[in-house]
Amino acid sequence: MRDALLAWYRANKRDLPWRKTRDPYAIWLSEVMLQQTRVDTVIPYYARFLDAYPTVDALAEAPLDDVLAKWSGLGYYRRARALHAGALAIARDKKGLFPRTAADLEDVPGIGPYTAGAVASIAFGEPAPLVDGNVARVLSRVFEIDDDVTSTQGRARIWKIAADLVPERHPGDHNQALMELGATICTPKSPRCLVCPVRSHCLASAHGKQDELPRKAPRAAPKEWRRAAIVVSIEDG
Ligand code: ADE
Repeated sequence: MRDALLAWYRANKRDLPWRKTRDPYAIWLSEVMLQQTRVDTVIPYYARFLDAYPTVDALAEAPLDDVLAKWSGLGYYRRARALHAGALAIARDKKGLFPRTAADLEDVPGIGPYTAGAVASIAFGEPAPLVDGNVARVLSRVFEIDDDVTSTQGRARIWKIAADLVPERHPGDHNQALMELGATICTPKSPRCLVCPVRSHCLASAHGKQDELPRKAPRAAPKEWRRAAIVVSIEDG
């Protein structure tokens, strides 16, 4: 499965700016931006942000308000605050030297297991796993995992599979290939199994269950809240 996935990725990968660099700071930035925003939207922001703050030290020295202004339009500003806090920690504690392993990256405030795995594998070639929504979907189908992938147990199973699967050679390409497959072929609705490079390895496809996986617990019904507020305006004179 790994060989088929990697060969497919190399032949079909989208030409994206963060795939032309091994700079851990630039890769970190791209991964944070991509977490809740589509690729097409991220591309111009990524370029402008790197122009304004080309290094982790430059970002650390910038006032938070300027960073938030540069982020403006991308939404989810918590990400920009976390990025800035992380840059400050790296500049201060590590003298601008980027942590090189997933374990050390996770010690940086604001860097979680996904981002740590992405930077460690893509920038430093560590065979560290990563799981995002795309990867969870691909792996739950290929390995026919019936657990709710949002549950603690389901999450742990998927991370274990990702860890067992990640190769020593080209772990960054492998991880990006899983994400790319989830984004373009193994989509949430109507997955394109007929053109999937790993179909012959996929248990869900063999059993016709690709539309049932990944399983997610049904969302709780929305609750109605009623609240009253008053506004008191006190004027002079
Ligand atoms: N989504 C988030 N990061 C990605 C990456 N490096 N490659 C493909 N899809 C992604």
